[in-house]
Amino acid sequence: MATYKRLPVTFERGEGVWLWDTDGKRYLDALSGIAVCGLGHAHPAVRQAICEQAGQLIHTSNLYGIAEQERLGALLTERAGMDRVFFSNSGAEANEAAIKLARLHAHRRGIENPAILVAEHSFHGRTLATLSATGNRKVQAGFEPLVQGFVRVPYDDIEAIETASANRQNIVAILIEPIQGEGGINIPADDYLTKLRAICDREGWLLILDEIQTGMGRTGKLFAHQHSGIQPDVITLAKGLGNGVPIGACLARGPAAEVLTPGSHGSTFGGNPLVCRVGRTVMETIESDQLIDNAALQGDYLLSAFQEALGQTKGVTAIRGCGLMLGIELDRPCAELVPKALSTGLLINVTAERVIRLLPPLILQQAEANQLVQTLTELVRDFLTES
Ligand SMILES: Cc1ncc(COP(=O)(O)O)c(C=O)c1O
Repeated sequence: MATYKRLPVTFERGEGVWLWDTDGKRYLDALSGIAVCGLGHAHPAVRQAICEQAGQLIHTSNLYGIAEQERLGALLTERAGMDRVFFSNSGAEANEAAIKLARLHAHRRGIENPAILVAEHSFHGRTLATLSATGNRKVQAGFEPLVQGFVRVPYDDIEAIETASANRQNIVAILIEPIQGEGGINIPADDYLTKLRAICDREGWLLILDEIQTGMGRTGKLFAHQHSGIQPDVITLAKGLGNGVPIGACLARGPAAEVLTPGSHGSTFGGNPLVCRVGRTVMETIESDQLIDNAALQGDYLLSAFQEALGQTKGVTAIRGCGLMLGIELDRPCAELVPKALSTGLLINVTAERVIRLLPPLILQQAEANQLVQTLTELVRDFLTES
């Protein structure tokens, strides 16, 4: 179905940060399939994991023990400081699990009509519950009635949360992105998550962090919340966890980890041997190749290089970033930059109408970063003088 307005290109193969189309033209991928291919394309370790596992076992069922699921579960919970994990097939499903968990947790404590605080400009997925949690009318329009039980507040606004808390008795959780991705690479104040943690502790709410875009090394830490030194109650992951195989995860700790029990949630494919083997390989490669440090290093470099190149340019209103999650905001809609970049052999994205979004692979090297800065700077300058 026509759910996507596709660009006029089809890719045939990839290697590292590069993609080749069906005419043999080469592209620098500064989007990674929207924060998915952190290890780049056709990574040898991922390929080997898929081939070996496919030769051994792809799928059994969650009716049985799954050794690879246990291995990845142990690795992820250990690194995240969490107790348990539920595996899904996508980010939206990971958030569905988190929403169900928060509601069940509330009902068990006698709260009849639980509500979850969510932010303006957030994005949490396209299922009915997650689009209802999403703070973008375009995502919701036409799908009413929306799922109830979400209370919306402005992002990065502690006062608004205090007001919501004072006005309502039934809030049980906050579901929020540590940095908003689709919303325009919105980076909150340094102490925002710390303050959210303190409010959740005071009120007995669960702090649920949607790290689907920010997780798996993207921001220069394994998880973005680690920049703040806080510990959430629930974390959702997907995208970069599988480097392209469909896997999502909902991790929880403490009482939140004990809420979902046999019969309360499930998934046929979720956590099958193939995707979990790949997820483990991705985690191990991120660590063995020090890709988190690389993301921090290259991210800092890109941020300062773009600030240097475009910071004083009229029409550029902000340049922000955290690791390899960067946004260049213009004073006008700039979606047409995407096909322009494509024709020069560069893959970028524009979100929130005016924000050029860059999510290059974590394996990005200096020469590729330089090429990205040079090509995009020219494109932006030309666009701003022409439009
Ligand atoms: C923060 C965040 N949450 C959830 C999702 C939904 O993930 P999926 O498309 O895998 O369902 C996305 C996807 O862009 C996302 O960026």
